Amino acid sequence: MKLFIDSADPKDIAEAAATGLIDGVTTNPSLAAKTGLDYVESLEQICELVAGPVSAEVLATDVEGMIRQGERFTRIAKNIAVKVPLTWDGLKACRALADKGHMVNVTLCFQPVQAMMAAKAGATFISPFIGRLDDAGQDGMELIREIRRIYDNYDFSTQILAASIRHVTHIRDAALAAADVATLPPSVFKTLISHSLTDKGLAAFLEDAKKANVRVRDT
Ligand code: G3P
Repeated sequence: MKLFIDSADPKDIAEAAATGLIDGVTTNPSLAAKTGLDYVESLEQICELVAGPVSAEVLATDVEGMIRQGERFTRIAKNIAVKVPLTWDGLKACRALADKGHMVNVTLCFQPVQAMMAAKAGATFISPFIGRLDDAGQDGMELIREIRRIYDNYDFSTQILAASIRHVTHIRDAALAAADVATLPPSVFKTLISHSLTDKGLAAFLEDAKKANVRVRDT
């Protein structure tokens, strides 16, 4: 499973990228607003930190505006994926940008037929929002499972990018449901390898070694 970081802050991205375990980045207008930085400048910095896809979301809502802003983003770096909303204009822009060879991430997906339409429009990624469905009392992970079945039924190559991830259990369940990618807030990324028994076990190993003066000689 590929792991992306869901942040527009170059500092967050640099910290996560230093692990060598990050495959890409997703941003959106709300995340860009939080940084207080110029959106294009932060994307430029992020694209230098991560070789994989970096999603940059258009602010226009009409097809021409989306294409214009998408093409502006693609001039930042080769690894930009243009992010468009799941609207009719968004799908038309997706088709136009995909036909020009650009990666497109179709975002704000809340039901499986939306995902099928995005795949038909040539999307590279579809972003189902798991956490927001859970918040609304629905089963976000069921959406991932349904999209997986539809994409497999028809051999769509669009990658399922599980978004709106809130905790490590979402990552486990998305991986079991064969999502291709999950995008995580930096705070959730940090919890991925946490387990109290790991910490306790390591402390006991080190304590036992110290008591018995066990050492690792350099030569
Ligand atoms: O990048 C889109 C998505 O991950 C947003 O998540 O937490 O705002 O629902 P959230």
